Amino acid sequence: MPNAPQFGPEALSPQPARSRRSWDPLVKITHWSIVTAIMANALVTEKGSGAHVWVGYALAAIFALRLLWGLIGPAEARFSAFPPSLRRALGHLRDIRGGRKALHRSHNPLGALMVYAVWGVLGIIIASGIAMAGPPSGAFLGAAEQTGEVSRHSIAERGDHEDKDEVNGAEGNESVWEEVHETSVNLLYILIALHIAGVIFETRRSGREILLAMLPGRA
Ligand code: HEM
Ligand code: HEM
Repeated sequence: MPNAPQFGPEALSPQPARSRRSWDPLVKITHWSIVTAIMANALVTEKGSGAHVWVGYALAAIFALRLLWGLIGPAEARFSAFPPSLRRALGHLRDIRGGRKALHRSHNPLGALMVYAVWGVLGIIIASGIAMAGPPSGAFLGAAEQTGEVSRHSIAERGDHEDKDEVNGAEGNESVWEEVHETSVNLLYILIALHIAGVIFETRRSGREILLAMLPGRA
């Protein structure tokens, strides 16, 4: 079918089910950089430390780049190739039940919902982190490192948060951001587990090289 649409939500085509998905280098680099930054902040950096906040800003920059790519990147990386749609996600579930293997050039409709969920939660983590740490500034860059003070809401102040919360509105606000940050981080962990399970499931079901397509060297 030479005139079949190649990309976008209608990009189902009767090509062989094994035909490979292909991601451009920027999608691959941003994916694995985001994974690395999340793992660093979850497992390595001290929560709220200068390193944690810097990894956080790097994460924010990479995330922003990927979102920009969703507007100007190649067809399969664009938001228009994987619109969030409950109807299409349900259709994909019906395909799974019926054993049909439609070919999607971008994320499949169920995967697309997962991608937007991960991005949404990541956005909340970044926003709440920045709300606590403040924007990158000269003071943060220089003096903060020397004094160990991350920001006006630094970890140096964290020991007595609980007491201050009762008398100080600003500190009370900070503890709200802390709650938001921590809850969304926990939600992210659940989404990541579902995401990895989804990748394994879809790889086995479709027989396509879904993971290999996200690895280096597979253009
Ligand atoms: C996905 C990556 C991230 C993970 C897994 C993560 C994880 C955490 C966790 C578990 C805490 C402890 C929460 C608590 O106080 O109980 C924390 C605190 C903090 N995070 Fe993140 N974080 C991430 C991204 C960020 C970003 C992007 C920023 C800002 C640019 C940031 C800034 C902070 C700050 C300032 C605190 C200290 C809060 C306090 O004063 O207690 N984090 N983070
Ligand atoms: C911190 C953990 C992870 C997060 C937050 C995450 C998030 C994401 C996001 C947002 C996408 C969409 C990529 C884009 O369009 O730019 C994606 C795709 C993908 N991820 Fe992850 N990921 C994580 C870990 C992993 C791991 C460990 C694997 C390996 C099993 C993996 C395999 C994939 C694959 C194969 C795709 C492409 C799916 C498709 O073809 O539709 N991810 N991931």
